[in-house]
Amino acid sequence: MPSTRCVIIIFLVHLYSVSYGADILAILPTPSYSHQIPFRPLWKALAARGHNITLVTSDPERNASIKNIKEIDISYGYEYIDKYKCIELACNDSVSLIDVGRAIRLATADINERFLKSPEGQNLIHNKDNHFDLLIVEALLIDMMAFSWKYKIPFIGVSSLDCSTQFHDSAGNPTHPVVNPDPNLEIQDLNDMSFGERLASFLFSATYKLLVYYLTYRKEYAMLQKYFGDDLPRLFDIQNEISMLFVATNPVFHNVRALMPNTITIGNGMHISSPKPLPKDIEEWLNSSKEDVVYFSLGSNIKGSILNDSTKAELTKAFSSLPYKVLWKIDHQVNDLPENVLIKKWLPQQDILRHPKVKVFITQGGLQSMQESIYFDKPMIGIPFFGDQHMNVKRMTHLGYGVKVHKNNITRESISEAVIEVITNPIYREKAEIYGNIFRDTDIPNVDKAVWWTEYTLRHNGTRQFRNPALDMPFWKYWMLDVLGIVFGVLFIFSYLSLKFVKLILRRIFRRNGKQIDKSKKWN
Ligand SMILES: *[C@@H]1O[C@H](CO)[C@@H](O)[C@H](O)[C@H]1NC(C)=O
Ligand SMILES: *[C@@H]1O[C@H](CO)[C@@H](O)[C@H](O)[C@H]1NC(C)=O
Ligand SMILES: *[C@@H]1O[C@H](CO)[C@@H](O)[C@H](O)[C@H]1NC(C)=O
Ligand SMILES: *[C@@H]1O[C@H](CO)[C@@H](O)[C@H](O)[C@H]1NC(C)=O
Ligand SMILES: *[C@@H]1O[C@H](CO)[C@@H](O)[C@H](O)[C@H]1NC(C)=O
Ligand SMILES: *[C@@H]1O[C@H](CO)[C@@H](O)[C@H](O)[C@H]1NC(C)=O
Ligand SMILES: *[C@@H]1O[C@H](CO)[C@@H](O)[C@H](O)[C@H]1NC(C)=O
Repeated sequence: MPSTRCVIIIFLVHLYSVSYGADILAILPTPSYSHQIPFRPLWKALAARGHNITLVTSDPERNASIKNIKEIDISYGYEYIDKYKCIELACNDSVSLIDVGRAIRLATADINERFLKSPEGQNLIHNKDNHFDLLIVEALLIDMMAFSWKYKIPFIGVSSLDCSTQFHDSAGNPTHPVVNPDPNLEIQDLNDMSFGERLASFLFSATYKLLVYYLTYRKEYAMLQKYFGDDLPRLFDIQNEISMLFVATNPVFHNVRALMPNTITIGNGMHISSPKPLPKDIEEWLNSSKEDVVYFSLGSNIKGSILNDSTKAELTKAFSSLPYKVLWKIDHQVNDLPENVLIKKWLPQQDILRHPKVKVFITQGGLQSMQESIYFDKPMIGIPFFGDQHMNVKRMTHLGYGVKVHKNNITRESISEAVIEVITNPIYREKAEIYGNIFRDTDIPNVDKAVWWTEYTLRHNGTRQFRNPALDMPFWKYWMLDVLGIVFGVLFIFSYLSLKFVKLILRRIFRRNGKQIDKSKKWN
């Protein structure tokens, strides 16, 4: 009955593709361009499939011609990052990770509270006419996950980096401090950690969890209760209801880790778009260049003001000594600019990196920048400043597609040596090609994968079927303390009794031998 089958197939295709229009609430509160743009293609793809997206974002695109996406602008978040000096503290070696963490927590708590207080936030909490089927929320902070409880809908956590430990925990992914240490730690060799590093990683992981669960979550809970009401469940319980986790990891940039089926990787540079023409002046400058070109940008968070005047002077001296041209993205005045250097406040980075004249990218080691560089097979010079940048650059030097310059060692010599090394020694270019091939080689485009799993979550109203049973076990069961207790107990009793028995036998033998020896002594 081929015609019936045909009808069924058409029916199924219809059911799983066209007929489906859901209302999705997406909240990405982190005020950072690189936390926002990787997901733009996902919102657009979901919208194109007929879903309505309400997007709370610090970087709205404000493009009226994009249908089905309603943006709620929380760009005021950037004010709090400045107010608490988050970036300055994170870049300052004499400030501890705990103090950096505190500044970030204070800033994000202010941002979240300002949003919940705002008319848009109040509408989301109180307007009974709102309807949502799914929440998508950044897997970095817990607060906004409360909306999944509010609307009784499942939620997906997304992360433009590897995500925070607590959300790997909640998805049931192992967070083993020796196999997958926190990206904030600087480990010499991830595959062969020293005892000191393993101890440090264990202590870091334990302290992190204690601080998050017993300090941060308590404070956040008290704040959230003001807005969501006293019957809000414990944040720990909300977090553990996570349906899916989309993390931007890739073996080119991260140590591989064990993941549950509710976790998918979208680390193939989902935001990398098709080529666009370069601005005329830059294209002419690049095309007319007889020399190779160095591209230098420290990303959107490391502002020109973070570099002091002497560092900027060292950079210009280094660049002027090079037999190459340098394209420098900096939002700041630079004095005594050499002739071979062109500076711009903003540059279309992907299309710059795509240009064949560009041979090396000097980067702060932010994940999105590095993804773009490796996508176009360009080796890098990493100058990590904070966060995961250290680990990303470490992975790069370990795999060999670039070199590192320490941020306190930005000198005329170190920069020019690094540039000449990476451009003239072909090994970096070769490695960049090898890892570029691995990076681009994926089963299905990451946007399609993310869309499919989003709709999967919608179809089944969550993914309880993937829940790791470990999440519902008390810790003594998970660590098998009772089982190990019995096993070691029995072993101990058995060894103890055996020892007693052997001692008894030996004592008898020795007693008899002793008498014989005594006798033999007499014979001599
Ligand atoms: C999406 O929004 C449009 C305009 O507000 C509305 O007409 C449509 O019914 C909505 N679709 C869904 C699936 O809610
Ligand atoms: C706005 O979106 C439309 C449709 O996706 C696109 O063609 C256009 O280039 C966008 N405009 C800007 C300024 O990005
Ligand atoms: C780094 O922090 C120390 C101590 O907290 C402070 O004295 C110093 O001025 C800071 N450095 C910069 C560059 O901000
Ligand atoms: C969907 O799942 C949520 C929990 O994530 C639950 O509260 C809600 O009742 C479910 N809705 C339906 C229609 O089954
Ligand atoms: C500049 O160079 C690029 C890459 O070689 C090429 O695709 C482009 O057409 C050139 N543009 C002009 C204006 O010559
Ligand atoms: C400028 O910054 C560099 C790197 O952080 C530091 O080593 C140097 O001492 C600073 N110079 C001045 C004059 O502050
Ligand atoms: C600073 O850079 C120079 C290369 O110019 C290198 O020899 C030196 O080891 C570096 N120092 C540190 C502390 O990294």
